Amino acid sequence: MSEVWHSVCALDEIQAGTMLPIEIGDMHIAIYNIDGEYFATDNVCTHGFALLTDGFLDGDSVECALHGGCFDVRTGKAQCDPVDVDLRTFQTRLVNDRIEVCIEEA
Ligand code: FES
Repeated sequence: MSEVWHSVCALDEIQAGTMLPIEIGDMHIAIYNIDGEYFATDNVCTHGFALLTDGFLDGDSVECALHGGCFDVRTGKAQCDPVDVDLRTFQTRLVNDRIEVCIEEA
């Protein structure tokens, strides 16, 4: 396994308090701007097939639109029923005003 950084969007494409769906290969990933800090998780809920970016971001918690499960976007931790499996999280970094996400690849 090696770590590969992917440039995914410009800083001004994602305002504070918002999230953005991106795809890297066949992976759906959500990028979050929490007061100028950037986080990335899987975008598919661990409970069913729903994109978290179709849900609601409240502070550093994202709520799934389908059944209301919540996750901490900083840690991926499942926070409330009906979700009990954590989301994968990915490292982010800023390079030349763009957000990059680190994916482990075989
Ligand atoms: S699919 Fe997300 S809570 Fe059910």
